[in-house]
Amino acid sequence: MSKPYVYVTRKVPEESLTALQEVAEVEMWPKAEDPVPREVLLEKAQKASGLYTMLSDQIDEELLDNSPHLKVVANLAVGFDNINVEKATEKGISVCNTPDVLTDTTADLAFALLMAAGRRIVEAAEYVKDGKWQNWAPLLLAGTDIHHKTIGIVGMGRIGTAVAKRATGFEMEILYHNRSRKKEAEEELGASYVSFEELTERADYVVCLAPLTEETKDLFTYDVFNKMKSSAVFVNASRGGVVVEEDLERALKEETIAAAGLDVFRKEPIPADHPLLSLTNVVALPHIGSASAETRHEMAALVSRNIASVLKGDTPEALVNE
Ligand code: DGY
Repeated sequence: MSKPYVYVTRKVPEESLTALQEVAEVEMWPKAEDPVPREVLLEKAQKASGLYTMLSDQIDEELLDNSPHLKVVANLAVGFDNINVEKATEKGISVCNTPDVLTDTTADLAFALLMAAGRRIVEAAEYVKDGKWQNWAPLLLAGTDIHHKTIGIVGMGRIGTAVAKRATGFEMEILYHNRSRKKEAEEELGASYVSFEELTERADYVVCLAPLTEETKDLFTYDVFNKMKSSAVFVNASRGGVVVEEDLERALKEETIAAAGLDVFRKEPIPADHPLLSLTNVVALPHIGSASAETRHEMAALVSRNIASVLKGDTPEALVNE
């Protein structure tokens, strides 16, 4: 009997495919940086039992309706807002993701963004490289303290909790807002549950780590930024869709808030001429939350195991469907 066919939508490390190659015939889009064109994805999906996907692939109703053999879609990400999970579930297709293995790496990056935006690290580094540094001056590139300030975490899941853990090292007061209370974070990290309104009003650093859902879409509007302190720093390491970017741009330009650290954008890659990128008080990164070599290798291996498990009829390690 021939092995089921699995399509991998980006060039990933060969060695991470071992578990998968034992049970499936695997074909891979040969480019690491360029996404597979939609028409190629649709064509491959028609014969695939498994799809190994990236967050830039839209696994929507059209694709799912035209993939008669599909049993599993496994994303190389913890987020899965690019996949129509409801439709997949209806069709009996398992949807998998990569939680846990990326928690600390993504929390490190979120905290690095917080520090970079608060202490103006990127602006200062460019200042030196651009030859602008003529003299030491008392308030030259003075930023905002991090230690002993208040962090407000929106989305206290695994990554939010790991960010809170880092904040304790800086002796920060920790506020959080989440769909449900997190007793462990309250007891072990001293985090306080507050309403979204209270969090945005009181925090010096507002850090969004909530997944993109119907409830979080367009959550951060001008009104929200307007309620924040004028010294507040906004950090987003979840999904661009939680922010109304024109509103953020206006808030930064009007100095309604002090700075932003952004790893994610509504449209990725964000065009180089996007107005947000022209602001010196914005630190912008190309969605690298989980991008350490170690973690990306672990994520890739987990995706392979997830697909292999479903194809063997076992329960995968990280199943998203409820
Ligand atoms: C994820 O896994 O969802 C992250 O956004 C990728 O860095």
